[in-house]
Amino acid sequence: MPHELNNPCAPSVLAELRAGTHSLHVALEKRLPFFSDRLDLPLYRRLLAAYFGFYQAIEHSLQCSAWVPPGFDLHARLKTPALEQDLQALNINPQTLALCPSLPALHSQASVLGVLYVLEGATLGGNVLRKQVAEHLALDAHNGCAFLYVYGEATGRNWKSFLDFLNAVPLDAQARTQAVEAACSTFSCFEQWLERQEVLL
Ligand code: HEM
Repeated sequence: MPHELNNPCAPSVLAELRAGTHSLHVALEKRLPFFSDRLDLPLYRRLLAAYFGFYQAIEHSLQCSAWVPPGFDLHARLKTPALEQDLQALNINPQTLALCPSLPALHSQASVLGVLYVLEGATLGGNVLRKQVAEHLALDAHNGCAFLYVYGEATGRNWKSFLDFLNAVPLDAQARTQAVEAACSTFSCFEQWLERQEVLL
């Protein structure tokens, strides 16, 4: 329904993504061990290795996808390089690590946007987590904690420019539903992968 794209009363895709993923975010946040007494260097190393297995796979699938909306600078937003830097600092060879085999389907621009919403939004919480890791494990961007602060002081700016991009892509109701499904699937695939890697509480 093309007229709906211009309807100012239609819910924004951001509002739908937030509402659709809120409970998944809360559930995963509770299971991640960043604020647990169990967080020590060995667990942090296993956690980062598990993060790598997911991010490497999903970013590779995004890079191979024909559905990344034109104008989105995927390369500038990749987080795998920061994870590789952290793994190297922690003496882990990324080539020895397992990669997540089960990923959200990328079958439309809307589904790519849903995935990107989760990966970009995760940088906001990352800023909270890196302070915790700095305090408890004495790690910073140079010795194993670059990923959690991947955008540094540009975190807020990058989030805002992502939201501007997201809001500028015309999405009808069906496309917005696809975006939310892909975002939910990203959370679920990530949580299941972390579960299998035995790094969750
Ligand atoms: C213990 C782990 C986590 C904590 C403490 C956390 C915390 C936060 C916080 C505080 C925000 C809001 C920041 C703001 O509004 O400025 C946020 C946003 C977000 N986080 Fe997390 N997060 C965690 C893990 C994750 C993970 C693993 C993902 C996905 C892989 C994720 C995805 C998101 C998304 C998509 C948003 C954006 C929500 C929106 O404003 O639309 N978070 N997180």
